[in-house]
Amino acid sequence: MAERSLTFRIMRYDPDMPDVKPHLQDFTLKEEPGMTLFVVLNQLREEQDPTLRFDFVCRASICGSCGMLVNGRPSLACKTLTKDLSNITTLLPLPVFKLLGDLSVDTGVWFREMSMRTEAWVHNDDPFDATAEEGRMENETALKIYEAERCIECGCCIGGCATANLKPDFIGAAGINRVARFMVDPRDKRSELEYFEVVGSEDGVFGCIGLMACDDNCPIGVPLRGQLAFVRRKMAAVGWKMR
Ligand code: FES
Repeated sequence: MAERSLTFRIMRYDPDMPDVKPHLQDFTLKEEPGMTLFVVLNQLREEQDPTLRFDFVCRASICGSCGMLVNGRPSLACKTLTKDLSNITTLLPLPVFKLLGDLSVDTGVWFREMSMRTEAWVHNDDPFDATAEEGRMENETALKIYEAERCIECGCCIGGCATANLKPDFIGAAGINRVARFMVDPRDKRSELEYFEVVGSEDGVFGCIGLMACDDNCPIGVPLRGQLAFVRRKMAAVGWKMR
């Protein structure tokens, strides 16, 4: 591999210094074999600018901390290899989420609020029995739940969503996926009407304008298009009955 010099054009912003407007700063380093953006950003912070802010925990596409716009596309930095990038790469923080500084955003507040709005827990009035045997479930059902649970809450689906960028209250693909997860769970006793109250609105499943950037940008391939269609079909049927 011919050695390349890579330039990273990174957004810099410190909320504690509001007089310094957000701006792009260029950093250059030599590419190494197998280099990811995780390696790049750590190297830049260690060798060139210790104030550079970005988030990582797992380095393995598991924790969802490192979502950012890589040349405009929401991506996981730890999963992005420099060999797939051109000589100049622009890195911006994910939009929609609260900006903490440079490339670091607070996805936690957004996801917590979404979890509260969707009441993302099993609704069941059965009395708790610590001695009861583990409940059984069809494999097919368990796999559907598992598929939705694979979401790592990185926010890439939200950052790339036109509706979420325009409407702060839009629940987004991550929220709809969360609702789909509980809809298929036989332990959750919520009625479809109760789900309608949560997502049967323009801030919910009917706010999606169908561009499906969420599905294109999900870095771990959660089937968001299918989840959206599933919830939308169910909610449209409830809405129709209510007319
Ligand atoms: S660092 Fe955990 S997903 Fe990238």
